[in-house]
Amino acid sequence: MQIYKVGGAIRDRLLGKPVTDIDWVVVGATTEEMLAKGFRPVGADFPVFLHPKSGEEYALARTERKSGRGYGGFTFHASPEVTLEEDLIRRDLTINAMAEDDQQNLTDPYHGQRDLEARLLRHVSPAFAEDPLRVLRVARFAARYAELGFTVAPETLELMRQLSESGELEALTAERSWKEISRALMEDQPQVFIEVLRECGALKVLMPEVDALFGVPQPEAHHPEIDTGVHTLSVLEQAAQHKQPLTVRWACLLHDLGKGLTPEEEWPRHIAHEHTGLKLIKAVNERFKAPKDCQELALLVGKYHTHGHRALELKASTLLELLQSFDVYRRPQRFEEFIAACEMDARGRKGLEQRSYPQADYLRGAATAARSVAVQPLLEKGFNGPELGEAIKRERLKALKVYKENASA
Ligand code: CTP
Repeated sequence: MQIYKVGGAIRDRLLGKPVTDIDWVVVGATTEEMLAKGFRPVGADFPVFLHPKSGEEYALARTERKSGRGYGGFTFHASPEVTLEEDLIRRDLTINAMAEDDQQNLTDPYHGQRDLEARLLRHVSPAFAEDPLRVLRVARFAARYAELGFTVAPETLELMRQLSESGELEALTAERSWKEISRALMEDQPQVFIEVLRECGALKVLMPEVDALFGVPQPEAHHPEIDTGVHTLSVLEQAAQHKQPLTVRWACLLHDLGKGLTPEEEWPRHIAHEHTGLKLIKAVNERFKAPKDCQELALLVGKYHTHGHRALELKASTLLELLQSFDVYRRPQRFEEFIAACEMDARGRKGLEQRSYPQADYLRGAATAARSVAVQPLLEKGFNGPELGEAIKRERLKALKVYKENASA
């Protein structure tokens, strides 16, 4: 049996990037031989094993043939006769289809090295189409390597377009899609992920609610970039530049979905888009089974982002409602993430990226004021049950009124 390092580890070493995990391919071996050497099998479907000591993945060289729709529709052919070249040709991109033996001899039959130098994301063969998840993977790699100047090869973009139109993307499971989406959003240029998906028509299939924002105008006075889709990408870009967590990035992507529903005769204004957008945000959240914290923040940011921008003008009672809605007393971190998303929204506008956002500190101050209300004295006064709740609210409102007066003094 011969063992080779493959895939991302070779690609990233050649790019001078840190290598985090290593995948191996084993040529000329059977499952029985792997088990006899102490390798542990992973799942029932794939001829993949974990090394007994390092825990790294070792896959038997295989060919893949698609036998039906969706992820279940694969048949594998793994046998000691499958060659390294046959294994590499069914992989997604040429830059991911290189292998290296223990002497660091490179096997590169599909010119991955040439494409690395040309900064091209190019599919290896028509077998690319056997796994529609690769449309998302290519968009993710485009986001990751955008800073190095990588682009998607035109013929690969065309194949991605065909896959998007074929209806194959709809067969992807929420879990597999979310894994790609969440990883892509955490790249340094997540907006490129959305751009590439849009370019190949996959955005229209995966997130039609986001796709619909392109071509929708906003008032130039607040949005010099005018286009809502362009604005959304800038907000996402700002979130990445400010190293925001996934929750905030997800909320940034979805915050303005309601603007895609505004009747054209109301353009460029979007009255009540915060409310009309909620059902769309909910639908996207559920489609990808986003984690609970992502879902929650996206809905809250969707509903309240204009409150955030108008923070300094809000009445004390509205400020209180906002803080109550966020349960800022028990969930201070979530409110911080809301503030961050609002700030990214304010900065994600053409020419306004560097502007200050005094609303952020103002909202933090308001939260501190409301939180400073002590419950003990109210208990001592004999309040309990719903009356106690009302008394706390009254005290918080008082505290916010004082806070407002002091802030405007
Ligand atoms: N691969 C593929 N098609 C997929 C998933 C993986 O062809 N849908 C192949 C590629 O050759 C890839 C290798 O399997 O390089 C390992 O996959 P994975 O670990 O998911 O990705 P990496 O390329 O290592 O990239 P990352 O750095 O994003 O983990």
